Order: sequence, then structure tokens, then C-alpha cells
Amino acid sequence: MKHVSINEIEKQKEIAYRVKELNSGLSLSACVITYGCQQNENDSEKLKAYLSAMGYLLTDSPEDAKVIIFNTCAVREGAEDRVLGNLGALKHRKLKEDDLVIGICGCMAQQEEVAKKIKSKFRHVDMVFGTHSLHRFPEILYSVLKNRERKFDIVNCDGFIAEGVEQLREDKFRAWVSVMYGCNNFCSYCIVPYVRGRERSRAPEKIIEEVKDLASKGYKEITLLGQNVNSYGNDLDADIDFADLIREVNKIDGILRIKFMTSHPKDISDKLIDAMAECEKVVPYLHLPFQSGSNRILDKMNRRYNREKYLSIIEKVKEKIPGIALSSDVIVGFPNETYEDFKETLNLVEKVRFDTLFTFIYSKRPGTPAAEMEDGITDAEKHKNFNELLELQNKISREINDSYVGKEYEILVEGISKNNPDMMTGRTGTNKIVNFASKTASVGELARVKITSAQTWALIGEEI
Ligand code: SAH
Ligand code: SF4
Ligand code: F3S
Repeated sequence: MKHVSINEIEKQKEIAYRVKELNSGLSLSACVITYGCQQNENDSEKLKAYLSAMGYLLTDSPEDAKVIIFNTCAVREGAEDRVLGNLGALKHRKLKEDDLVIGICGCMAQQEEVAKKIKSKFRHVDMVFGTHSLHRFPEILYSVLKNRERKFDIVNCDGFIAEGVEQLREDKFRAWVSVMYGCNNFCSYCIVPYVRGRERSRAPEKIIEEVKDLASKGYKEITLLGQNVNSYGNDLDADIDFADLIREVNKIDGILRIKFMTSHPKDISDKLIDAMAECEKVVPYLHLPFQSGSNRILDKMNRRYNREKYLSIIEKVKEKIPGIALSSDVIVGFPNETYEDFKETLNLVEKVRFDTLFTFIYSKRPGTPAAEMEDGITDAEKHKNFNELLELQNKISREINDSYVGKEYEILVEGISKNNPDMMTGRTGTNKIVNFASKTASVGELARVKITSAQTWALIGEEI
């Protein structure tokens, strides 16, 4: 059974109502702290909707909250350490406040070793639930409140699809929409397939229904989410793939921009590139992680493509979608990555000229094949390479941004600029942040802006 039944979701909503009754007469706040990727942000929106249905006021300050939930990421050790540090810091508060409920969920909590550690060493944590238990959150919290007991809910399985869980989105015109969950790729360094289960696609009609509903509420920008959206539909009976899906979403009135992430180079199709080029709402922006420029390392990473294949995709994309912006993820310091290997990464970055690069130093994830590989490269060498890559990329980003100066772009207005209250801020279709002077621009609408100067991370302009 891949789908959670409607009855089960109804039951959870009913339990949420019972939590509200338990708390009646009290004015309580709840705080959800999110780490990791957009998928996790989207999960947090589900937790927040449940909490809101339970009568909690949502706050961003844990100090004010009586329920604090850490929705965690396990992709690198640093993220995990931060969560454990923050959890530890709450110990004293818990001693003084008997009615404080502390929970941890998400990818870190899904790992049995972590759950065990929290059980024995973080005794002030009341609930631990994994990624496959998210839809059961009302039941978990209810039992903690009602029975005053700790609750652990980690299910070892391939995962479910839970339709019908509400989402509380803070943004009023941009929304994330998950199209699939899980990952089947097992890149040798990566924990995601172990904590998110196997690939499972939502039914296309559910996705379309959700986007139409968002459009009717005034949403303008949709980001379709999946760990590898290119495999969308592989597990469905319906004859549909991701290219077909974006063509359907493209038809929905009211939506101005469609983005998606993430694509895997091994199975990005010509059909998808054509759909991107032909669908006017799909922005000219592609995030296509290459991870390494060295064929030797790509092979050890189990990425199942080589640099030649990657470069040929980029060539095709640039040809079919002129002016497209490109971004990518790259790992520096994979076990035994030599300077020769690393130079291949530098060379690929020079060839492609990405607009933005998300650079990571390899982090050993227990349980993954790469964690067992020998690694003779020192941390100092890895950091030196990492800095060399950053320097190269900063130069390229700046050069690309400079090429925007003097030209006009359509900007989707996001709000008032954080650094200068006299300016508005928004993004081009190519995902560039633009801070611009305007008297008329309104949030969630398009504005036409001429770029007057460039920085490494943003552009400056004025509305015309
Ligand atoms: N599904 C997406 C990304 C998932 S994780 C994809 O395949 O592209 C986001 C990024 O984190 C990855 O692209 C990778 O660059 C990085 N990452 C994953 N595991 C890592 C590890 N063990 N150490 C360092 N970076 C890692
Ligand atoms: Fe991790 Fe690879 Fe799956 Fe991305 S495709 S989530 S890097 S295993
Ligand atoms: Fe992290 Fe889980 Fe996303 S491990 S990157 S939060 S899928």
C-alpha cells in the first residue's frame, strides 16, 4: 500500500481537533525550525497547517513557543551537528517548563542511530518521528500531551504518498508543490535514498488540482519539487512523464512562472528540454547538478553519466533556450579525489559558465558506500581546492551579472529590499535577484526593470 488512505488523514485531522480541545482556554504558540532542502520546507508547511488546526499560533521565535519542532536534514554532518547543539541548548528550559514539548523529525530523525541517540542522551526531547510518519503528527503530539509520555515513530519502509494533508504557506504568491517523493539513485555519497524511501510520483490530477487551487488564491510562481523530477511518472500506470506534466501545469491560468528542481543529468530528456523551450511560463533557468568534472570520480559516485554527456546536455540546452541561466551542485573532496580530478571540475566550470554554483565539501555519511572508501586527501587540501573553485565561480558569476547591465528584464516583485527600504526586490526569470527603484511596483506582480549596475550576488535597476 503506497497511498495513505483518506480515512487515515481524516482521522489525523480529527485528532488535531482533539489537541485543540486539550489546549482550549490556553493561548499557546508553536515554532517549526527547518533545515535542508525545499522538500523539507514543504513538509514544514504541512506541520504548520496541522499546528494551526490544533489552535497554536505560529512563531519564528522558539523562546515564545510551547511546542518546538526541528525538521532536520541529514545530507551533511554539519547540519546534523547544528541540530544536536540546538536541541542540547533547550535542556535547561525543559527543566523549568514542564509544559514545553520538544520534537525532532525529518531526515535526521529517520535514521535509527540518531533516534537511539536521542532516546538515551537527549531525554528532554518528547517526540522523534521520521519522514514516513509526518502525516501522523497529530496522533504523535496528542499522545505526548495526553499521556505525558515520550513518543518515537520511525517506520522503516519505502514510503507513502499522503494526499490531503493541508499546507500552511507563508509566502502569498510563490509556492512549492511536491510532484514526487524519495530517490532511487543511490549516489554513493548520499543519505537521501536511505531517509526518504523509494521514488513515488503523485497522481497528475492531484498536482494539477493543487496548482489550480493555488492559482485561484493568487499564487503566481510554482516550483515543482522532487529529488529527481526526471523520473516523474516512471512508477505510475498513467502514461505521463515530467515533460508532459509541465505542459499541463503551463496551461493553468493565473500562474506566471514555473520552476522545478532537481533534474538528474543521467535522465534529462530531449523531450523535457523541448517542453522547457516551448512552455512560456517555464522560466529559462535550469539547476542541473554535475557533482564532479572527473569521470573517475563520477564513476565512484555512481552518477551514471560522464563529463562528455553532461557537457552535451548543456550544449543542447543553451542552443534550444538562448539566455538560459544554469546552476549546479558540486562536491569537493570526495574520497581520494586528487588535484588532477579536481582540475577536471574547474575545467568543466569554466566550460559551462554557471550563473550560480552550490559548492559542498564532501561529508562522510555513515551507511553509504562512499563512507567505506579510502580517503588519503587531507582536510587542508580539500579546503584549498574548495576555495579555488569558489574564486573561479565568483569571477564567472560577476561576469555574467555584468552582462545584464543596460538591458531590460521582467521582474516578479517579491517585496521591499532588505538592505534598502527605498528599493523593491524581485527576480528575473533567470533567477537573478534585482533590487530596484520603483514607485508603482506591487508584490506578486511583474515589473519591467532596466539593470543599471551589477554585483556578484545581485543586480541593481530601476523600473521603466
Ligand atoms: N536530489 C538532488 C540533490 C540532493 S542533496 C540531486 O540529486 O541533485 C543536495 C546536494 O547536496 C547534492 O546535489 C550534493 O551536491 C550535496 N551532497 C549530497 N550528499 C553529500 C555529502 N555526503 N557530502 C557533501 N555534499 C553532499
Ligand atoms: Fe542523493 Fe543522488 Fe538521489 Fe540526488 S540523485 S538525492 S544526490 S542519491
Ligand atoms: Fe536534507 Fe533530507 Fe532534503 S537529507 S537535503 S532535508 S531530503
